[in-house]
Amino acid sequence: MALRGKHILIGITGGIAAYKIPLLVRLLIKEGAEVRVMMTEAAAQFVSPFTLATLTGAPVGMDFRRPDGTWNNHVAWAHWADLILMAPLTANTLAKIVNGQADNFPLAVLMSAECPVWLSPSMDLEMYRYPAVRDNMAKAASYGMRVIPAEEGELASGLKGQGRMPEPEHLFELIRQHFQNRPPLPDLTGKKVLITAGPTYEHLDPVRFIGNHSSGKTGKALAEAFRDAGAEVSLIIGPNHVVDGSEDYEVVPVTSANDMFEEVKKRLDNSHIAVFAAAVADYQPAEVKDNKIKKADERLTIELVRNPDILAYAGRHKKPGQVIVGFALETDRELENAKEKLARKNADMIVLNSLRDPGAGFATDTNKITVIHRDGNTRSYPLKDKKALAYDILHELEKHL
Ligand code: PMT
Repeated sequence: MALRGKHILIGITGGIAAYKIPLLVRLLIKEGAEVRVMMTEAAAQFVSPFTLATLTGAPVGMDFRRPDGTWNNHVAWAHWADLILMAPLTANTLAKIVNGQADNFPLAVLMSAECPVWLSPSMDLEMYRYPAVRDNMAKAASYGMRVIPAEEGELASGLKGQGRMPEPEHLFELIRQHFQNRPPLPDLTGKKVLITAGPTYEHLDPVRFIGNHSSGKTGKALAEAFRDAGAEVSLIIGPNHVVDGSEDYEVVPVTSANDMFEEVKKRLDNSHIAVFAAAVADYQPAEVKDNKIKKADERLTIELVRNPDILAYAGRHKKPGQVIVGFALETDRELENAKEKLARKNADMIVLNSLRDPGAGFATDTNKITVIHRDGNTRSYPLKDKKALAYDILHELEKHL
């Protein structure tokens, strides 16, 4: 009951993801929160106010005038809330928020808020990347509002891309973490942090490659956590759909293990902390064909040669005071294998995740990790959002600073 006594006010605007908000409301109430909902008239086209009033046990705020003719005090609504979340938030209401317009009830409540205000802009991918919408998100952030990035995936239009509202479970997790009284992040101002992330692609010919399912989400979450702690971050990341050029830290796109190795070598000596979250191919084809390999015999044998082990290189060249963090992705004998990697690659700490745990590992928004320190100290964390785990990793790493 981590949210017992907390007042969460959800503002719904007219986007298709509105149909998911009742699930978020249920999750919050189950965790002890008191929830109220306000919505625009457009939102009521997507989800019924009656459903939300029934779930929350409170009237839904839609108008300045109550059905009995009395004033629905928008200031009182705002002051009741410990957190206001606008989700889903349309481009239209976002624009009104940053322009100080208050032509409906939720907007007037928002302007009277004294608590944190979070925005979850959700729309089609083209709208999401439209320059004015991007500017409005940046403006909202500069006003102190938290803008929760939309997720990648299938959109109501049938297109695929960034624009989806995060799933209710994800939004719930962010809210839960917010109220968890987590200890402050260590101050890493002036520290340089290198992070590897994502997959590597090893080309066989101009068309094909050997790769893996890493999305880069873990690396991006780590980059954001270190950035939040004040560090100067370089994220060296394989082919991915999670960075889009709007990052406020260095992003170095790479393709193969060799490319990643070269970029790491350029920065390693100057890095105070290096975190190796990438899923690097252990082998590459001995030869990359100039032309597409043609179908011929029933069997095709491809010779592979070892790739450099980037983490092991960093471990061998570790400078005094430098902190090296590895990851271990396992499918069996997890703890044993991770400990062996920690020692063999000379890391200070290794983050173990297992593909046997549902919701863990590749591509998901969540992970379940065990952190193993060089001195044998070990701590397991429950399934969590990758951003929350990035914060946990940063706290674990504090012991080595
Ligand atoms: O990107 P996501 O979709 O969020 O997925 C995250 C993840 C599953 C990729 C991440 O949590 C993870 O486990 N990363 C390490 C994956 C891996 O390749 O593990 P490994 O056990 O094979 O490698 C051990 C360590 O050596 C890792 O730190 C790896 O980055 C490093 N390594 C491995 C091989 C190699 N040639 N060079 C390396 O640096």
